[in-house]
Amino acid sequence: DKGIYPYYMLKEVDEQPVVIRRLVARYLTDDGQIKLGQAILDEMEAADHIYIVAAGTSYHAGLVGARMFEQWSNKPTSVYLASEFAYEQSILSQKPFFIFLSQSGETADSREVLQNVNEQGFHSLTLTNVEKSTLWREATYALPLMAGPEIAVASTKAYVAQVTLQAILAYALADANQMTFNLHEQLSEIAVAIQSIVDDKAVFEKVANQMLVPETTHSAFYIGRGADAAVALEAALKLKEISYVQAEGFAAGELKHGTLALIEEGTPVIALITQPKTAGLVRGNLSETTARGARPFTIVTKALAQTGDDYILPDVNPLLTPLVSVVPTQLLAYYTSLGRHLDVDRPRNLAKSVTVQ
Ligand code: F6R
Repeated sequence: DKGIYPYYMLKEVDEQPVVIRRLVARYLTDDGQIKLGQAILDEMEAADHIYIVAAGTSYHAGLVGARMFEQWSNKPTSVYLASEFAYEQSILSQKPFFIFLSQSGETADSREVLQNVNEQGFHSLTLTNVEKSTLWREATYALPLMAGPEIAVASTKAYVAQVTLQAILAYALADANQMTFNLHEQLSEIAVAIQSIVDDKAVFEKVANQMLVPETTHSAFYIGRGADAAVALEAALKLKEISYVQAEGFAAGELKHGTLALIEEGTPVIALITQPKTAGLVRGNLSETTARGARPFTIVTKALAQTGDDYILPDVNPLLTPLVSVVPTQLLAYYTSLGRHLDVDRPRNLAKSVTVQ
């Protein structure tokens, strides 16, 4: 029931702090210890390479998770689109371990990969929102995303749950002496941070109406580097699927290799700037677009903010910033769809659970 909400999507965006708190309560103790089956951790520990397989928004969550498995757990990790990996499997490492990310647990492309993985005798873990779904049942292990039913076709809280649960797994696999922060504390702070963003809805409604709703806006760009590039892909997908604005998410450094040609007077370019190492470079790339007439909007963490920035995010661990930076992009997509008088929850041509290959 969507209660006071006009659309499920808005309700689900608002639920994100609760989803994080629920995952924290389920998987972490107060002092940051992990509550997970030892067998899962042992298998992941023993693996020499993690293969994350998913589609759409779940794939984008995997792009964020992979960075944590590599940078926190020192585990080589690759992320694959299920629809590609199913028919063109890469050369695998000696001891591979597979993670399937799927809100529905029924995505046909991911099921196809899992079937191949099972036939080859490899072990796997599914992270899904639907217990007893096919991917839940057929993987070696499964853990619930605990996001609660996601009704809107556009996935929001499941993405946040997938990133959070991967963070918990990566943290569990990491050498405790190397971890300079308490994940329980970090995630609790992030839940508060997301609450402050969803309380700022009017800001995003206004920006969407100014930049993205006008009929003269035919395309838009999200740019960023590192984890921000991964969020840019998700931000663009969300905008495309519910507002029908042609959008691209781009690794900011790639713009100059061709795509810059698309920038015209007034083209919205939204820059995500949360990564200390590359913040200056992204600003440089953004200036290259504004010099060609682009209309910029910056979403920046507090520590990296400069005068004139448009939306300031609270500071969190750099690899966890996707959990906060994605929220403004969800709201921008929502208000663009609303402003264009579209059915936010049921975009044309799409289904919630994709059971065809
Ligand atoms: C986008 C969206 C889709 C799904 C994709 C995978 O908002 O919802 O891109 O993420 O179809 O679905 P699941 O996660 O159910 O495997």
